[in-house]
Amino acid sequence: MLRPLEAKAPAPSTIEDARFAHESEEEFARLLDFYDVRWQYEPRTFPLRYADGGRIVEAFSPDFYLPDLDLYVELTTLKQGLVTEKHRKLRQLRELYPDVQIKLLYKRDYLRLLAKYGLGGMNEREAMAVREVLFSASEIERRVNELGTQIAHDYAGSEPLLVGVLKGVACFMADLMRHIALPVSVDFMTISSYEGDRTGAVRIVQDLTENIEGRDILIVEDIVDTGMTLHHLVKQLESRGPASLKVCALLDKRVRRLADVPLDYIGFEVPDEFVVGYGLDYDQKFRNLPFIATLRADALQAAGGEA
Ligand code: IMP
Repeated sequence: MLRPLEAKAPAPSTIEDARFAHESEEEFARLLDFYDVRWQYEPRTFPLRYADGGRIVEAFSPDFYLPDLDLYVELTTLKQGLVTEKHRKLRQLRELYPDVQIKLLYKRDYLRLLAKYGLGGMNEREAMAVREVLFSASEIERRVNELGTQIAHDYAGSEPLLVGVLKGVACFMADLMRHIALPVSVDFMTISSYEGDRTGAVRIVQDLTENIEGRDILIVEDIVDTGMTLHHLVKQLESRGPASLKVCALLDKRVRRLADVPLDYIGFEVPDEFVVGYGLDYDQKFRNLPFIATLRADALQAAGGEA
């Protein structure tokens, strides 16, 4: 009977020890930890094909083994062509090792799993609408931490006022301010956005409560797309006489820029696609996704056409 090969060193079974090849693997491990399901990362390799001399020429090492369930799990976020190859290997593995239980988990299955367990405030319908996760929760956390550290360094000796534009900035502001090790203040404003009517200009729906004259102001934005909103905001705030005015944007959709307002701090650049999650909405939905993602075309249509 064929037997798998054990990894040389004991297989990692904690987040701290494992060197995950992929963000989604780390998140899957966190999900398992959360539910107290023990796991090992890539503990075994299953030889699939041998050359004449007995040398292994093809093998498969599933990502996880869950000893409590006696189950191997392979996560896949790969393109369809590569998935076909993985299917072939899995079929072969099942033929050669009939006692081994192995499950291939697609990104969509994995999102459904998160939804099922109520993680990240995502329901199953929202999970189904996601086309591609651009930035996972842990990637965002890492980047926001870096931004906060940089801002604290640049503003050392000052007490900046962070000005957020509602509502999309809610998650980003909440996380960013906790990574700035300085005495900061926070204020918010709401401005109207263009809704296809011709009745007037950008309006401040809800203004700041703080006086910004003579203060160091850092505007915190969720996403800068055409730059029109930010351009208007910078003009408004500059007229109030701050000591300095800078901008920190989580996402920069640079290819769409019309008004070129300089951004002093940028989290990530995004392609010319509509993105949701981590505060960003589509038709007021999806703000509560813990990651930033694009939506499937049918989900965009279902929610009322391209925004
Ligand atoms: P801008 O004035 O074109 O730069 O648009 C900025 C505002 O539009 C942002 O503060 C968002 O509220 C919204 N927005 C632009 N692109 C997206 C997106 O991809 N997803 C969600 N909201 C967006």
